[in-house]
Parts: sequence; C-alpha cells; structure tokens
Amino acid sequence: MSLLEIKNLTKSFGGLTANQKVNIAVEEGEIVGLIGPNGAGKTTLFNCVTGHYRPDSGQVIFDGHDITGWSPERICKAGLVRTFQIVKPFMSMSVLENVMTAGFLHTNSTAVAKKNASELLEFTGLADKRRMVAGNLTVADKKRLELTRALATKPKMLMFDEVMAGLTATETNDAIDLILALHRQGITILLVEHVMEVVMPISKRVNVLDYGVKIAEGEPAQIARNERVIKAYLGEKYRAPG
Ligand SMILES: Nc1ncnc2c1ncn2[C@@H]1O[C@H](COP(=O)(O)OP(=O)(O)O)[C@@H](O)[C@H]1O
Ligand SMILES: [Mg+2]
Repeated sequence: MSLLEIKNLTKSFGGLTANQKVNIAVEEGEIVGLIGPNGAGKTTLFNCVTGHYRPDSGQVIFDGHDITGWSPERICKAGLVRTFQIVKPFMSMSVLENVMTAGFLHTNSTAVAKKNASELLEFTGLADKRRMVAGNLTVADKKRLELTRALATKPKMLMFDEVMAGLTATETNDAIDLILALHRQGITILLVEHVMEVVMPISKRVNVLDYGVKIAEGEPAQIARNERVIKAYLGEKYRAPG
C-alpha cells in the first residue's frame, strides 16, 4: 500500500480546472518529484492534499486513512506535513520560538519543546541563529527554519513546495543535502519544483503536470526523454543523450 495516494483529484476555480483527475502515488521511503511549468497546478494539488483546499472530487489517502476534507491541523497530526512556497515564519518571534510552536503539536511541556527544537536546529544548521528574530533571517535561512518547524511536528512524510526557489547554487546544494539527510532518517518526501535540475538527480520517480493534467510519470531519465514533457516544459536542452 502506498503511503500517499492521490486519486482522480479534480479542483476548479470558476471556469479554470487547476487539477484534472490527477493520480499520484508515493511509496513509503521514496523521494518523488512533481514538476511542471508555472501555473501547471502544483501548488493547488498541494493545497488539496494538505487540507488547505477541498477538492471538487477525488480522494487523498494517507497512511491508510481517507484524509479528503480533513483540516490541515488534523492532516499534520497524522504525519503529513508541508512547507509553503512563500515562507511564513512568525516574523517577530525568535528562531527557537518558531520551532517550539510547531513542537507543541506533540507536547504541552515548554522544556520538552525547547529541547526538541534545539536539537532540530542543530540538525538543520540554524543553532547559532536560534535567538535571532525570524524576520531578520535571509531567504535561505527562512526556508531552513520552515523546514525545521516542519520537522518539529514529527512527520512521516514531508511535502516541499518550491523549497529551492530563490536560492543560490550553494544554498540549493545545501538544501539538497538536508533533504537527503531527512530521507536517510526514513522520512518520505514529495518534492514539488519548477526548477527540475534539483529534482531529477534525487528523485526516484518524477510526475509531470501541465495545465492541471498529469502528462507523464517515470524515472528521471525517462522523463528527460519524454516528448510530451519536452514539448510542455523542459525544452530541447534537457533531452537525455541517446
Ligand atoms: N485561489 C485561486 N483562485 C483562482 N485561481 C487560482 C487559485 N490558485 C491557483 N489558481 C490558478 O490555478 C492555476 C494553477 O496554479 P498553481 O496551482 O499555483 O500552479 P503552480 O503551483 O504549478 O505554478 C493557475 O492558472 C492559477 O492562476
Ligand atoms: Mg506553485
């Protein structure tokens, strides 16, 4: 059984169908990519899966539960946690307090939340900035904080929405290292990216959305050769040799 199964999910905004009968499955322990041009419906799908939007039709199954229509809080508590494309830390709170807030999902003890948050900040490389006000962090560090907050909720599965957007090459490599470290800890990952260069090398399978429709699924090397994908999005320069 898949850890996450998105079945025939459809979501429209007025006359615009942002997701049309999308099917995606993620097995436990996988890193799966979801790519597509801007406006393809990636964030909408995210919002439907994580309870921020209610799909018009279709189902979302997570860890054996039909979570369609559940609230974001309930979904998060079940172990499916997301990051936002636009990072939203509590700007006037410290880095440590931001992470502690997320930790209160599982504990009422301030001491426990603080200890867990400190350990996680060590892991994500933000320990020396724990007293800083979140609003003063760089974009890369705000993303790191967002990820640390997500970890504080003890996820089984993490969904990242354009977590690399706006990062320099070095920062992107650091972010990839961090994602691989999370994966080694057993966390299943769905990586949504507009920039496919970061998704291809680390994903086991990649799904491609275009105009709300899933047009391809396969191993990164297959996807890079897929004519429909090349036409929709990737362009000739991504065509695999041979
Ligand atoms: N809340 C909304 N209301 C109306 N249209 C929306 C809304 N959210 C997204 N859309 C539209 O749905 C389509 C898919 O958007 P989105 O899911 O953000 O794509 P992506 O994340 O792949 O760039 C776009 O045409 C976008 O304008
Ligand atoms: Mg988006």
